[in-house]
Amino acid sequence: MKLIIINGPNLNLLGKREPEIYGRNSFEDFFRTLQMKYRDIELEYFQSNVEGELISKIQEVGFSYDGVILNAAAYTHTSIGIGDAIKAIETPVIEVHISNTMEREDFRHVSYISPVAKGVILGFGLQSYELAIHSFL
Ligand code: DQA
Repeated sequence: MKLIIINGPNLNLLGKREPEIYGRNSFEDFFRTLQMKYRDIELEYFQSNVEGELISKIQEVGFSYDGVILNAAAYTHTSIGIGDAIKAIETPVIEVHISNTMEREDFRHVSYISPVAKGVILGFGLQSYELAIHSFL
């Protein structure tokens, strides 16, 4: 099984960024533990702060991978382009968030990803990503 985790803007700062919300672990460290734990899965990771790069990556993997685990971060709430890219591909996408966006500011209650995602996992910290892996398994 081939899965990719795609992270959007500012998630490269995990561990340093608002740790009371997003925790103190870097994503790279967490990703290494996932790779060790799920050796039977081909697990990749891509992060970009640039909306178009996220769209290009979704297009690139969207006809050959078994699943995409996407945290589009702030673009979740604004990006029609990312929503359209998900609609355009065949690979199922699971939307994940570290925080429970529904208990935060109103603008985080809107998602352009949810209507086109296979499912949504939010509010479990970094474990949200692992729950998404389990759902693909
Ligand atoms: C986030 C929630 C978004 O609202 C925010 O813009 C992020 C991270 C999360 O994982 O909780 O950057 O996607």
